Amino acid sequence: MDENFYITTPIYYPSAKPHMGHAYSSIISDFFARFKRIQGCNVLFLTGTDEHGQKIQRAAENKGMDPKSFCDEISKTFNDLSKTLNLSNDDFIRTTENRHKKSVTNLWKILEKRNEIYLSKYSGWYSVSDEAFYSEDETEEKNNTRTSKTSGSPVEWVEEESYFFKLSKWQEPLLKFYSDNPKFILPESRKNEVISFVKSGLKDLSISRKSFSWGIKVPSNNDHIIYVWLDALTNYISALNYPNVQDKLYKDFWPASLHLIGKDILRFHAVYWPAFLLAADIPPPKRVYGHGWILSGEEKMSKSKGNILDPIEIIDQYGLDPLRYYLIKEVSFGNDGNISQEKLENCINSDLANNYGNLCQRVVSFNEKDFNLKIPNNYKFNKDDQQILNTYSSNIENLINSIDNQNINYYVNFIQEQLFAANKYFNDQEPWRKKSDKERLNSILYVSLELIRKISILLYPIIPESSIKALKIFNITEDKIDFDSIKNHEILKVNSDINKIPILFKKIIKND
Ligand code: MSP
Repeated sequence: MDENFYITTPIYYPSAKPHMGHAYSSIISDFFARFKRIQGCNVLFLTGTDEHGQKIQRAAENKGMDPKSFCDEISKTFNDLSKTLNLSNDDFIRTTENRHKKSVTNLWKILEKRNEIYLSKYSGWYSVSDEAFYSEDETEEKNNTRTSKTSGSPVEWVEEESYFFKLSKWQEPLLKFYSDNPKFILPESRKNEVISFVKSGLKDLSISRKSFSWGIKVPSNNDHIIYVWLDALTNYISALNYPNVQDKLYKDFWPASLHLIGKDILRFHAVYWPAFLLAADIPPPKRVYGHGWILSGEEKMSKSKGNILDPIEIIDQYGLDPLRYYLIKEVSFGNDGNISQEKLENCINSDLANNYGNLCQRVVSFNEKDFNLKIPNNYKFNKDDQQILNTYSSNIENLINSIDNQNINYYVNFIQEQLFAANKYFNDQEPWRKKSDKERLNSILYVSLELIRKISILLYPIIPESSIKALKIFNITEDKIDFDSIKNHEILKVNSDINKIPILFKKIIKND
């Protein structure tokens, strides 16, 4: 397969160090990037930091730092986190880089040239925390403070000269675009929210600010700073060397296959971004998926609420793959989810240590005793063997479709069922009682090893490090992992050597 696949995370505000919500967006994106790579696609995976605007300027001022040095410091913690999370990103973009400034300036000029921008005056509410404009009816008075109804963050009154983008003009074209591309916005429930928002009437959008200086200047009027969302969204094409539309990266990867984002920033990605692009005669991305939030108690985690979970602390205590597995499996994708220590420990003990790790150890140890660490020969699949092996070949299309529709839950359930089935198979077949029936013994061991190979491949996008460790049993290195091979049941070469591997997951001893 030589399909190109371009996936992006949101670019993160380096206003404070990363938290679990950020880790979640990144890990899920990495899951898709890794799956598509083992499916044989040519993948580009982008992440980065969103460094301009009033929010960052104020955060820097609070620390007594100039914004650039402040961003350098915090952007590095996001870049470091990408490594800690074992993200397979190909690039990390910072909006303070020249390649990005060039791209934003160019997009602005095109919009101006196409008569999509005009100068006027903005008066209304603005939330610095969300970097968003709100109309009167989108705000409310709470504890003597005017706040946004949707995010709860405080808003302030802004009155200043501003450039406007003719968003109202794009209302009908956007609605047509949504109906021509029914899977542009997922999940379905959020798509309906976006469509009703657009149908309710779009007003022109203020796209420049005058009252602060930290940002990219409007090329034709240096008193104005380009609105940080127009700046930020453009990162997705800056990384492809836009405005050089003849560049190979741009040609191969635009329009993006998937912008993965949290539900709080869906409007920016599903309304403003395609409108800017349509107005500049650039094709919009193929899909925007708005995932749910990681909650702390009942609330969205955020710095201002002081309820943040630090991914590094959890990784230090439990390891990276358990956290990745937990976030991908336990948070029903598309919905909000919680992190609880108890559920995380249960996941480690039952799914990872017992069902997966233990299966690998049992089968390899058994093989060592009876087969001297060689793939058994002279095997013959019986009905039970065929049945369990065929589950993979008959589900391969469903698995691919589930990923192509961001139905992670289907994919994860399949793995869980197969882990259960593989353990049950080994127990039910009782190879320890088949020592006198050599052909049957060979077959059970061959099938069990083959199941470990298939499950480890399926697990690769979720827990890459552990999957690679397990695939060492068969000397399969990362670059040789091929998703399609799970439909083939006779890949393991008879009489070839297998390897013992260290314990994959340590059980958590609970003191209750
Ligand atoms: N800078 C903008 C995005 C610009 S993209 C062109 C931004 N940054 S952010 O740092 O505030 O958030 C980045 C991502 O983290 C968003 O997708 C947001 O939904 C996600 N999360 C932030 N808190 C979250 C949770 N508590 N749970 C899950 N994800 C949430 O918005």
